[in-house]
Amino acid sequence: MKKNNLLVASLLTASLLWACESKKSESTQGTSDSLKIEQSAFGKVSDSTQATLYTLHNAAGTTVQISDFGGTIVSWTAPDKNGKFDDITLGCDSLAGYQKGVPYFGALIGRYGNRIAKGQFTLDGKSYSLAKNNGPNALHGGLKGFDKVLWKATPIEGEEPSLKLTYTAKDGEEGYPGNLSVEVVYTLQKDNSLKIDYKATTDKATVVNLTNHAYFNLKGGFDSDILDHEVTLNADKFLPVDATLIPTGELKPVAGTSFDFTKSSKIGARINDTKDEQIKFGLGYDHCWVLTDSTKNLKLAASVYEPTSGRVLEVFTTEPAIQFYTGNFLDGTITGKGGKVYKHRFGLCLETQHYPDSPNKPKFPSTVLKPGETYETTTVYKFSVKK
Ligand code: GLA
Repeated sequence: MKKNNLLVASLLTASLLWACESKKSESTQGTSDSLKIEQSAFGKVSDSTQATLYTLHNAAGTTVQISDFGGTIVSWTAPDKNGKFDDITLGCDSLAGYQKGVPYFGALIGRYGNRIAKGQFTLDGKSYSLAKNNGPNALHGGLKGFDKVLWKATPIEGEEPSLKLTYTAKDGEEGYPGNLSVEVVYTLQKDNSLKIDYKATTDKATVVNLTNHAYFNLKGGFDSDILDHEVTLNADKFLPVDATLIPTGELKPVAGTSFDFTKSSKIGARINDTKDEQIKFGLGYDHCWVLTDSTKNLKLAASVYEPTSGRVLEVFTTEPAIQFYTGNFLDGTITGKGGKVYKHRFGLCLETQHYPDSPNKPKFPSTVLKPGETYETTTVYKFSVKK
């Protein structure tokens, strides 16, 4: 009897392991079965907890894989001008890769995305100290930000499948005040867009700035950098930073600078403009652009075109700003999915958000959330092709 149980247990383990290895399902078109949200084991978070990988499909053939670990987008396929689907986002093959420490590949970022100067801020007369995990500053929610926690996931199947993720950050977690209940819903829409709806409520005044940190390389294949991608940013100002990448407080017009992307421009055209101090500080682009349309409407913030594949990515958001980061810290030390080495500038990020260091900059739009209020933002990443 015991032997039989052992046999069943080992068969089960083997099938789980197999599921983990074979998590990359081919994208299939159309049938209702192919629109089901698949679940597979992604790895062990601790002795008692496992991470799961959820695979969402739409009828157009796009597949997005998301893990409840960090709410991470693990893979994301988009068609090129010949209809060929490729994974266009950097990441790791298994949970172990993410646990080794990667620079936020595809993850949800919070409670405060981007930097807070010296890891300190004052709210309602009380000062709060955060971990300094980026030189003298706090970055992306701390040592164990929302990118490193296990979210509770609820898959919602349908023509436009969703994955609802919830997490409650405790009062004092990573130094921030207030129990913060967060809900993020990823929806894969029919038109090959991924909508991300963020919501949060708190029981004490706090600061919130949520985003996603996907790295895109629209060429597919992860064999080249993103310097020939052509970018448009609907932003007529950007936030100059100091040497530690904290905004100086100035909103600087982009006109006449290497930061002008109001008309489509190749990333590589001016990224090494070493006469520009801001490019030197960022080691390239790693700055927050202030969107020209400052309303809370869902508006086009950025678009990216990659000429070889014909892929176009458009980013719509209700947020006032976008951090455009060109993978300047990628240096070939990380081997990602399929054994591909992520070299310098192999991915670009378009992180929709409020301005960095807002908790210390009273003139910036407020990131304070009070009890009774609901933080609510939406960002849509939409793929299409230009022939
Ligand atoms: C953000 C920051 C960058 C860098 C990356 C992660 O986008 O602005 O400076 O820290 O995250 O490497």
